[in-house]
Amino acid sequence: MKILAIMGSPRKGESFKVLQLIEEKLKQKEDLNFESVLLKDYNLGQCKGCHLCIFKEGHHCPLDNDVPKIEEKMMDADAIIMITPLYSQHVTALLKNYIDQLSYLWHRPRYFGKKAMVIATGGAIFKGTLNFMEETTKRWGYHVTNKIGIPHLDSLTDSYKQKIMTKLDQEVEGFYQNVKAGRQPVPSFGDVMWFEMWKGNSIALKDTYPADYEYWNQKGWINESYYYPTNISIWKRLAVKLIGLLGSSYMKKMYKGY
Ligand SMILES: Cc1cc2nc3c(=O)[nH]c(=O)nc-3n(C[C@H](O)[C@H](O)[C@H](O)COP(=O)(O)O)c2cc1C
Repeated sequence: MKILAIMGSPRKGESFKVLQLIEEKLKQKEDLNFESVLLKDYNLGQCKGCHLCIFKEGHHCPLDNDVPKIEEKMMDADAIIMITPLYSQHVTALLKNYIDQLSYLWHRPRYFGKKAMVIATGGAIFKGTLNFMEETTKRWGYHVTNKIGIPHLDSLTDSYKQKIMTKLDQEVEGFYQNVKAGRQPVPSFGDVMWFEMWKGNSIALKDTYPADYEYWNQKGWINESYYYPTNISIWKRLAVKLIGLLGSSYMKKMYKGY
């Protein structure tokens, strides 16, 4: 089992300590391969907004940076753990910079079959940031199995610390079992709707985003109901088609050439 941790803190502080704890817990279960990418140690540059990653398949980014190196590690791993401190109740700019450079994955997701756990450290109120990280990794194709916010461990009362450590144990166990089982989740109605929307986009906007159409076609998704084989009831399929038709007529009114 290969686990890749991606950390958005600009220092080896609380998030790093949490990562070390998780590594220890996971290694007690299995002699697995655990690698940490501390984004602060990588050259990420700054997205220039050229859109080349979105318009073209393959690596055309003008930045000569380490992003492709980290992407290779993601592809090579069975699962990722994404961890960040809260900064202004969001992920750090360091992590957001990395996330922004993978925006093309919303158009052409590629990490299906892989699992993710997302973690935020900070004072309190983690929900919004965890939801953002969950949605982001999910749009890249990951099955997000676990998420947890960890308040300042050294400042907690004994009883609260105990509670958080138990919760962390449970989340790590759940994550480990999910990675081990490797099963793909049954998509919700919203997931199938999301697939239908992007399929519709890739067909309708073939000339604007040729790389999307080519990718979706090459994956065989154009003729499918979801990214991978799964059980989708006939009613769900019909409802999704109907809403998809309404959505595309709305888009036609909104955008030229849709
Ligand atoms: C610039 C900055 C902004 C922060 N903003 C928040 C915040 O909005 N909410 C919060 O709960 N903690 C905030 N914190 C505290 C950190 O999230 C917290 O100390 C975190 O655990 C630090 O992680 P690290 O040691 O891995 O860098 C902030 C810290 C810094 C340095």
